[in-house]
Amino acid sequence: MRIIETIDEFRAATSVTDRPLGLVPTMGALHDGHMSLVSRARAENATLAVSIFVNPAQFGPTEDYASYPRDVDADYARLDEAGVDLVLAPTADEMYPAGSHTQVDVGSLSGRLEGASRPDHFVGVATVVTKLLSIVRPDTAYFGQKDAQQGLVIWRLNADLNLGAQIVLCPIVREADGLALSSRNAGLSTNERRAATVLYKALSAAASMETDNAEQIRREMRAVIEAEPLAALNYVSVANPQTLDELDVVTGSALALVAVRIGKTRLIDNMTIGSRA
Ligand code: PAJ
Repeated sequence: MRIIETIDEFRAATSVTDRPLGLVPTMGALHDGHMSLVSRARAENATLAVSIFVNPAQFGPTEDYASYPRDVDADYARLDEAGVDLVLAPTADEMYPAGSHTQVDVGSLSGRLEGASRPDHFVGVATVVTKLLSIVRPDTAYFGQKDAQQGLVIWRLNADLNLGAQIVLCPIVREADGLALSSRNAGLSTNERRAATVLYKALSAAASMETDNAEQIRREMRAVIEAEPLAALNYVSVANPQTLDELDVVTGSALALVAVRIGKTRLIDNMTIGSRA
């Protein structure tokens, strides 16, 4: 496995590798959720690249950029063991040299839900993913359904800017009690970790409801979350899975989404909820 820090060197490496080339973009602190993307990508590509870059542009000024978990040695060991060929691990200066200015904004999709709670977050994500797709030029890039809105934003920018990658979304990997794996789970105390199952409980309650009334489903999710004293509700949503427009009536399948703060840690999760024709 080659670990490469500069864009020029990475481009030189990918110009001579076998195709298809797969890319798994990450911010490191790798867990089994990330590794599920890596193993799918490994199975489908002749060459596999993983990027590790904690992207300052997608963190707000009061968010956890400085304290975001970093453990590159452990990450490299896991990636090597998983058969990764190339790791792109640039510095912030390499990705955003002095004078760099251009940003990617996919529009209304990025203003709601996560975007309403985290202004500029998706401009930061869209800009860095555009840069990564331009640097790596993968045949396929793999992302997790865990970040459902991010997946839609990336699908949109790849289509709109003709970047030519195939975008694959992989299923959410969960702990035995339903908590979606996340690098941020490491920041939870024992009591907070127990309380964090409330996201999965709220989504499961939504999935098991018989009604097609989306507001009733949102009310039930709110009630489940509000019953957990350690959880502060950020949003619940029952939305169209493509546009994320909030629904009144669930006709086909819908996406239920939640964001909750538990202590200092902000957690998100989502689940497809079924047809109620
Ligand atoms: P990061 O949070 O490190 O996640 C990297 C990828 O792993 C994302 O596509 C995310 O959706 C996926 N992932 C995280 N937890 C998962 C889980 N429990 N199950 C399945 N997939 C999971 O998302 C980012 O980094 C950044 O925003 C990035 C796209 C790299 C741009 O900076």
